[in-house]
Amino acid sequence: MPSPVIIALDFASQDEALALVDRLGAEAGFYKVGLQLLTEAGPAVVRELVGRGKQVFLDLKTHEIPHSVMGAVHAAGKLGACMVTVHASGGSAVLRAAVEAAQPYPQLRVLALTVITSLADDDLPEIGLAPSVRAQVERLALLAAACGCHGVVASAQEAAFLKPMLPRDALIVTPGIQLGDGAPPDQVRVATPGQARQNGATHIVMGRSITQAADPLVAYRAAARAMG
Ligand code: C5P
Repeated sequence: MPSPVIIALDFASQDEALALVDRLGAEAGFYKVGLQLLTEAGPAVVRELVGRGKQVFLDLKTHEIPHSVMGAVHAAGKLGACMVTVHASGGSAVLRAAVEAAQPYPQLRVLALTVITSLADDDLPEIGLAPSVRAQVERLALLAAACGCHGVVASAQEAAFLKPMLPRDALIVTPGIQLGDGAPPDQVRVATPGQARQNGATHIVMGRSITQAADPLVAYRAAARAMG
C-alpha cells in the first residue's frame, strides 16, 4: 500500500471521477469508492481503477447480517479492492464473518468503522449511545481488533489514543481531513494531515479538500508531504 493519502471519489459519474484521476496522474495511487459513485457507476469503476494500477478502498460501510456481509466482502475481494469497510456496531459475529470472507484475498484489509466523523458527543444520545465519542470509538476499536479486523476507521482526534491500544500493525484510517481551517458543515471531528500523522494515523481519507480544490494536484501534494 504505497500512499497514505486516499482520495475519496465522491462524484456523480464515472467520467467525473476518472477526470480527477487523470488530472492527478501517476503521483496519486490510492482512491476511495463510496456509496455514491458505486451506485451511479457500478463495479466497473472499481475494475477501471484497479486496471490502471490504483489501490481501491471500497467504502461499503456494511451494516448487515453476517451472511450478507460475507457476500459483500467476497465481492469486494473479487473486484480487487484492497480495503473494505464494515460497521463495528454490527457486533463480533459480523466482524468475524467479514475477516473470514477476506481470507482468500491476500490484498484485502477489513476496516471496522467506529463512529462516523460527522458525529460529536451531543449526537450520541439520540441513537442510544453514551457517554462519549471517545468511549464508543475505544469500545468498537477493541472489539474490531479482538475479531481480527486489520484496522479501524476513526477520526484523527481519536488516532492518538487508539495507536497504543491496537496491535502494532493495525491500520488507522482517518477521514474528516481538511487542509485549511474551514471544515464542511457535515464534518465535525476534523484535523489536518499533519495532525493526523502526528496522532498516528496510517492513512488519511480526503474528499472535497482535494477534489474541489482550485488545483487538486497541489492540494494532494500538500497532503502527501504532510504525511511524510
Ligand atoms: O469530502 P470529505 O473529505 O469530508 O470526505 C470524506 C470521505 O470520507 C467521504 O467519502 C466519507 O464517506 C468518508 N468517511 C467519513 N467519515 C467516516 C468514514 C468515512 O467522512 N467515519
